[in-house]
This record gives sequence, C-alpha cells and structure tokens, in this order.
Amino acid sequence: MTNPLTRRTFLENSALASAALTAAPLLGANIPAKGSTLKVALIGCGGRGNGALKNFAEACQILGMESKVVATADAFQAKASAVGKRFGVPDDKCFGGYDSYHKAIAEDCDFVLMATPPGFRPLHFEAAVEAGKHCFIEKPVAVDPVGARAIIATGEKAKTKGLAVVAGTQRRHMEGYLKNKALIDAGAIGDIKGGVVQWNGRVPWVRERSDGQSDADYMANNWLNFTEMSGDHIVEQHVHNLDVAIWFLGRLPKSALGFGGRARRVTGNQFDFFSIDLDFGDDVHIHSQCRQIDGVYGKVGEFFTGTEGSTTGGGKLSGKKVDVPDFKQDTGNGQTQEHVDMIRSIMSGEPLNDAKQIAESTLVAIMSRMSAYTGQLIRFADVTTNTKSPFYSYTCGTDPLDFEKGKIVMPEEVAAIPGEPWGNRKKKK
Ligand SMILES: NC(=O)c1ccc[n+]([C@@H]2O[C@H](COP(=O)([O-])OP(=O)(O)OC[C@H]3O[C@@H](n4cnc5c(N)ncnc54)[C@H](O)[C@@H]3O)[C@@H](O)[C@H]2O)c1
Repeated sequence: MTNPLTRRTFLENSALASAALTAAPLLGANIPAKGSTLKVALIGCGGRGNGALKNFAEACQILGMESKVVATADAFQAKASAVGKRFGVPDDKCFGGYDSYHKAIAEDCDFVLMATPPGFRPLHFEAAVEAGKHCFIEKPVAVDPVGARAIIATGEKAKTKGLAVVAGTQRRHMEGYLKNKALIDAGAIGDIKGGVVQWNGRVPWVRERSDGQSDADYMANNWLNFTEMSGDHIVEQHVHNLDVAIWFLGRLPKSALGFGGRARRVTGNQFDFFSIDLDFGDDVHIHSQCRQIDGVYGKVGEFFTGTEGSTTGGGKLSGKKVDVPDFKQDTGNGQTQEHVDMIRSIMSGEPLNDAKQIAESTLVAIMSRMSAYTGQLIRFADVTTNTKSPFYSYTCGTDPLDFEKGKIVMPEEVAAIPGEPWGNRKKKK
C-alpha cells in the first residue's frame, strides 16, 4: 500500500489522532499512519547503512507500514549503486561523491538514515534537519568538541521543526538494559559507587591505499583507522559502553584522566589501547578500558557496583528485590527496535530527540581520547562551557567540507605522543 503520509490520512486512520492533534503545531514533517509507506534515503552505504535500511524496513513491518528507499548516497558511486540495487532504488537516484548527501536529502523522503564515518555526521545532520527530514544518526556523531556541540545545536533546531532524531545507541532500546536501568532507578543495587566499561576486541578492518587513490578517497575508505574520520576506537566503538555508564549513573563525568598507546596498527594514526579514569563526582569513578589488538583476550560490556548490589549492563543484576514494570519490546533486535521507537514517537506526537544525549556521550569519549593523546586531565566543562580551555575549540583538522571542495588536509600516519603539546598533533582551528 502506498498512501502518502498526509496529515489527513493520519487523522482518518490512526487511533492516536487526538494525541497528535495536541502536538500538531510542532510536527513539521508528515505523520506516519498504519498502512502508509515511509520514504527513506540513506547516506553512507556500507555495512551499517545497509543494515539500518533493513532495520527500518522491519520496523515499518512491525508497525503495519511499508518502507520505500527513494535514494542512496555514498562517497563512492559503486557503493551507492550496490545498496540501491538491493533495495530497488532507480539508478539515477543512487548518488556518488562527497556532495551526494545533498542530492539524496533533496529527494522526496520523510526520513534520512546517516551511516557515514562520524567525522561527516555534523555536516550531514545539519543538512537533513534544514531540509525538514526525520533523522536516524549512527553513533558516534562527531570526532571533536566543535562537531559534537554542532550536533547539539542542530538537535535543538530539529525540536523546533518537530523532527525525530534517533541515535544508533541500540542498548538504550534493548529489554535487558532497559530493565536493569529501571531496577537501578528503583534502588535495587543502592547507589552506584564504581564500575568498569569495556570494549576489548580486534582491529575490525584495514583498507590499504590503492594505486593512484586520492587522499580524500583513502581517508573516506580507510576511515576506521584515522582519528579525523572515526574519532579513534574509543569514540567510534567504545562510545556504546560509555553511553551505558552515563545512562545508568544518570549524570556526566566531571573529568577524564587517561593513557593509551599504539603498538601494532599498520595504517592511520590511532592508538591500539586506552585506559581512562572517569571521575563522576561524589567519590564515584568508572574505569573505561578499550583495546583493538588481534589475538588478545576479548571482552565487551559494562559492570557497576552499588552500595546494595551489583549489575552488568544488560544481563545479571544482584541486589534488593524491587518492582519494576515489564519491558516488552516489539523485537529482540535493538537495532530494529530503535527504528520502531523512532516511528512510534512521531505517531504519538512526541518525536524522540537523542541529539544532546548522543552528543554528550560522544563528547565524553572525545575528552577521554584527548586526555590519553595529550597526557592531560580534561574536564567535561573544558569541552562544553569553558571557552578559555584550549580543548574547547579543538578540531581534528581535516575539514569534512574540504572533501566536497576537492582537496583535504591529509594528516600524518603517526600516533599522538603524550606529554608533547597536543600529543604532537597540531591544534587546528
Ligand atoms: N550501532 C552499531 O552497532 C554500529 C555498528 C557498526 C557501525 N556503526 C557506525 O555506523 C557508521 C558506519 O560504519 P560502517 O561499519 O557501516 O562503515 P563502512 O565503511 O562499512 O560504511 C561507511 C560508508 O560511508 C561511505 N562514506 C565515507 N565518507 C562519505 C561521505 N562523505 N559521504 C557519503 N558516504 C561516505 C563509505 O564509502 C562507506 O560506504 C559509523 O559511524 C559506525 O561507528 C554502528
């Protein structure tokens, strides 16, 4: 069925009409209704982009709707075309190049899913919100403090336009995590006094430079190994676990003091491992630990100790018996549930807006990385409010807009040296 998502359709079909009527002035975009077709565009046609489109389609199915992919965009035409073909997108709506996001966003779509390297997220998110689209933004959402604060500003703009913004932090949509969070809030483990969050695994992949490949294409393709594109793995991957710590504690850390180093990586300029002490105030410290080295012990998860018990992130909790409501999800797949929650929030007239939350978790990961790179103690205020701090205005230096202009600042493939000014990585404006 391909009903256009008109307000009229919604009012005729939805049992939630009265809720939406109250919120109608807020909702700039069309409102989904049962039986309608939701039109979506994708920016970033790699593994996760492909997965996100699938998740979006599953979410529509769960809600009794259909999805239609109207455009794909990727730095590389072949990738945009391959994903487009899989989802039935006409060839002339599969856009390649660094300006392809403009073209995809300009198509007749209600939703834009963003799954490029995170260095591009602030730019693409701003363009999508400007165009009045609901946004799914993969985590993390920036690589430096300036980019993360831009996400917060764009998120505020999305609110004024009644647009949903949902982040790819799927743990916040998973039954086990939601239940433990509710149990903690009901006092099951008392006050959290400490914990550890971990992502210890292997290097996911390396994409070597091919003959004649431009700097821009090399960076955009081998992005997972460059801080300028990924934020380093403490930001790119470990942000999931840091986000859980912030969520469970219900507050942000005051400061980060950490270290790390590079031992085995073959391309790019990232560290192999990090160990960070996050001071959450009130004598509460969380240890953040992450490592990407092949062939060593792997452990991913979260653990918290409270005054009356302890808990893992989404698994076993030992503590006092307290009552919390059941968490019945539509699907056991958090990456599909986040799309269900996004669409349902628009239907209810109260669009979710995760922009500030994911930007703050990203900022915590960024300040942790900067502490390890420089060897300095960094306060959360240094990256959010203390404009006099040199960390406040730090940007990684390879401007995402330069990719569109055709010439980027290519960083050196060397890692930071703690104790050197800026960890030996020049401060760029
Ligand atoms: N939530 C999760 O569990 C999860 C899992 C994996 C990845 N991710 C996130 O998803 C994002 C993408 O990761 P991935 O694993 O799909 O990587 P990927 O390399 O498979 O895909 C990224 C795609 O973006 C394209 N791209 C690069 N620069 C671009 C630009 N300027 N404009 C348009 N396209 C561009 C690349 O060509 C590539 O096709 C990252 O932010 C990553 O952290 C989230």
